[in-house]
Amino acid sequence: MKVGFYGHVRQYHSFKAEIDRNIQEVLESGNYVMGPMLQRFEAELAAYHGARYAIGVGNGTDALWLSFLALGIGPGDECITTTNTFFATAEAIWIAGATAVFVDSDPRTNCIDPSKIEAAITARTKAIVPVHLYGQCADMRAIRKIASQHKLLVVEDNAQAIGARGNGFKTGELSDAMCISFIIQKNLGCFGDGGAVITNNAEVDRLVRKLRNHGSDKRSCHGMGYNSRLDDIHAGVLSAKLKHLDDGNALRRKWAARYSAGLKDASSITLPYEAPGYRHIYHLYVIETRKPAHRGPLLDFLNANGIDAKCHYPIAIHQQEGFPWGKGARIVGDISNSERNAACCISLPMFPELTAEEVDYVTGKVMEWDRTAGAA
Ligand SMILES: Cc1ncc(COP(=O)(O)O)c(C=O)c1O
Repeated sequence: MKVGFYGHVRQYHSFKAEIDRNIQEVLESGNYVMGPMLQRFEAELAAYHGARYAIGVGNGTDALWLSFLALGIGPGDECITTTNTFFATAEAIWIAGATAVFVDSDPRTNCIDPSKIEAAITARTKAIVPVHLYGQCADMRAIRKIASQHKLLVVEDNAQAIGARGNGFKTGELSDAMCISFIIQKNLGCFGDGGAVITNNAEVDRLVRKLRNHGSDKRSCHGMGYNSRLDDIHAGVLSAKLKHLDDGNALRRKWAARYSAGLKDASSITLPYEAPGYRHIYHLYVIETRKPAHRGPLLDFLNANGIDAKCHYPIAIHQQEGFPWGKGARIVGDISNSERNAACCISLPMFPELTAEEVDYVTGKVMEWDRTAGAA
């Protein structure tokens, strides 16, 4: 059997009529950029989050640095985040001209460990940038409390957890801005690049709208800005898919529960942890080998058996060659949890359109390896 890592084409076939209808509507309207479909999707996305504003931009990375710029974060400022994330989290901090300050992640959730943040705060600290890694929210209540005490901004990197909830809080509720990616493989993915900023702050809304459109909010009038707009065809695709997002996330949770039940007796790996009261939406289902030396052999075994397992992310940002490329970067304290996560993670196939047969095949192969090579 072959089990792929992504279900994009299966998903397209499930919602083909709605997606095609929206694309057709845009094509026939003649409005392809900053048109009515984008406005409609922005309103739907804001409503989905119970937020006042949603601004479509070119991708999740731009969503982050445009938010930083709108919030006045730039050269001389420091942003606290983690190194076990996709590269773009830190990249966006550097694009804004700020310094990335890395602290350790929580050993169970792999999101930023709030107890490590205060030691990293200096007079230059401007923001905390938590990543809702793999589909589970960081501990936003603890982060908000620290931010309020120290008068810091909070920008959520929510590229991976659209539709997730924390214990008594929603994503986007406790921050100044929240940034989403719609790249193909995300839980709400388009057919290329796309992103959005969600905020309740009218000034952030105004500035991101201006910045994404060559510094313009009035025809022919410009200030310094960029070109980073979510095009209307993609807004149409996303509008169709947004209606199915919660169902898709529920299916991901169902497959995650099936994986976890099937893998519970494996002794050589640890399973994903869902914090009490949280709703993890399993953008990724990530197991960790207990021994770093086991990660490569288990990954090879799965791949050799037709299972497209991957790693997110095997090289932490501070371990990338050439780090930090002349950019501002500081590591505060021991970041061994982030390093363990990078060394041991394996992502099993996870998308709503999986079948029980596929999940059971993957589970069976992981257990087979656990009983043989994993026991060595
Ligand atoms: C955690 C995280 N941050 C930022 C990004 C950047 O998003 P994009 O690829 O849309 O620029 C991604 C995804 O790619 C991500 O997973």
